[in-house]
Amino acid sequence: MSSSEVSFPPSLISPTIAASFPDSYTIRPLERSDYAKGFLNCLKVLSDVGEVTEEQFNERYDWMNQHGKGVHYHVVIEHESRIVGTGALIVERKFIHNLGIIGHIEEIAIASDQQGKKLGLKLMQALGSIAVNVGCYKTTLGTSDANEPFYVKCGYKKSGRVMSQYY
Ligand code: ACO
Repeated sequence: MSSSEVSFPPSLISPTIAASFPDSYTIRPLERSDYAKGFLNCLKVLSDVGEVTEEQFNERYDWMNQHGKGVHYHVVIEHESRIVGTGALIVERKFIHNLGIIGHIEEIAIASDQQGKKLGLKLMQALGSIAVNVGCYKTTLGTSDANEPFYVKCGYKKSGRVMSQYY
């Protein structure tokens, strides 16, 4: 697999939304070579990432690219050769709701020095455009109280409760 291979067609991201990013910022699918551009470092603003080697990252990337095709859509925002934002859409194909397809928004992170520039909002719009283009009728996400106002600004409304069990 070539290091430049992308995980999904970039055309799934609305060109209008992609063009709305400031000049030196590019939104695109996650690439295998993004480990070296600080992809995992960017995720550290969200949660504990752990000590993941490049080999382990590549293994996970390849697994997603082979077995998770059509399900995992990871996007990154690149600025001056560094990953400064990332987010994922996980697509679930259901039997209910007339074989409805829903999207789960996960792992949204904007590097601390880049927050407050509307990159998060544009990232959410980009993920929403992928969701629409792959046939989702809705997207859902779990959030903390602190981030709720951000997702409200992105067009989300409260519905139901999220519960978890840890193993
Ligand atoms: N509380 C209230 N308002 C907020 C917050 C917040 N925590 N974050 C952003 N906003 C508002 C902004 O003020 C702005 O409002 P405006 O349009 O009136 O000016 C609007 O939301 C858009 O803000 P952006 O500049 O696009 O937000 P940013 O690029 O800073 O990204 C994000 C927001 C993603 C929450 C970022 O702060 C971040 O990465 N935080 C750490 C990681 C994190 O918590 N990720 C979310 C986890 S939940 C999940 O992954 C599903």
